[in-house]
Amino acid sequence: MKTAASSPAPVPTTPGDPTPTDYGLVRLANGVYSVRSLAEGETFHPVIGPVAEAEALYCRQLRLTERLAGLREEFVVWDVGLGAAANALTVLRAARAASAKMRVISFDRTAAALRFGLEHAAALGYFTEYETAARALLTAGRCTFPNGPQPAHWELWLADFPTWLAQPAAQRLPKPHLVMFDAFSPARNPAMWTQTVFAGLHRLLDPGRACSMATYSRSTLLRVSWLVAGFFVGTGQGTGEKEETTVAATRPELIAQPLDRRWLQRARRSTSAEPLWTPVYRQAPLTAETWERLRAHPQFG
Ligand SMILES: C[S@@+](CC[C@H](N)C(=O)[O-])C[C@H]1O[C@@H](n2cnc3c(N)ncnc32)[C@H](O)[C@@H]1O
Repeated sequence: MKTAASSPAPVPTTPGDPTPTDYGLVRLANGVYSVRSLAEGETFHPVIGPVAEAEALYCRQLRLTERLAGLREEFVVWDVGLGAAANALTVLRAARAASAKMRVISFDRTAAALRFGLEHAAALGYFTEYETAARALLTAGRCTFPNGPQPAHWELWLADFPTWLAQPAAQRLPKPHLVMFDAFSPARNPAMWTQTVFAGLHRLLDPGRACSMATYSRSTLLRVSWLVAGFFVGTGQGTGEKEETTVAATRPELIAQPLDRRWLQRARRSTSAEPLWTPVYRQAPLTAETWERLRAHPQFG
């Protein structure tokens, strides 16, 4: 595993890293192609496809267009789990009509999925006018390019995200208005879903800059974890595979459907609600301490 880099820079593949041969293309029932990690046995956007999922999960429900309207400062997106860049490119494309400048900061422990994606750009269909930018990201680790009336900046931090979050470099990065959290599932990729990761992420945010975040998971364990980290948390819209997803924000007004006291009571009875305190997947009911922290959360006051 690589350690956190001190600046976004292309990192050559080293032995043991995934390579483009560790991925495959999957044709979904609607005819759209998605990328599958053969090592993890998981398809990146498994039901409605990469673009439709990214639009629903991160653009529409996090109200990207409304948040960009009239914004004077640069809009910063943290793209956690760059993969084959479908989320990053969908957000960039959705922001093209806006007058705000975009900065997308992508994180991944490997660029192999992006390499694979670019090799299959025609089938995937979402690179199109961003193909040159995506190639520049791979070769230089950063790029700036026209995106509507304003230029956009895109950079890639190749590092183990939980390790990177604890480094001084993380403090120095522009803080996000929006976070797309798209790791593999908690069962396959528990290191990305620990309480330490979410608490560290919340601590890094700028209190003066409203931030919202979404992920495809609707698990109680994840929702408790985000609440305990200090976020306000709500039910997110379904995306095809899941009838619900999860949204979070640093300010309650950014949450359309906040989790309520009925949800809290269900969480109390759940056999899988306690956050992961170590990077090992397991299921456990809430401890008395976590229950007290949840009850004291201002969302349920
Ligand atoms: C579901 S895929 C992301 C798909 C992507 N968002 C897209 O639009 O194509 C999950 C990504 O998380 C990355 N990942 C998993 N564990 C990580 C870690 N510890 N640090 C950084 N990235 C990690 C994987 O390498 C993988 O590319």
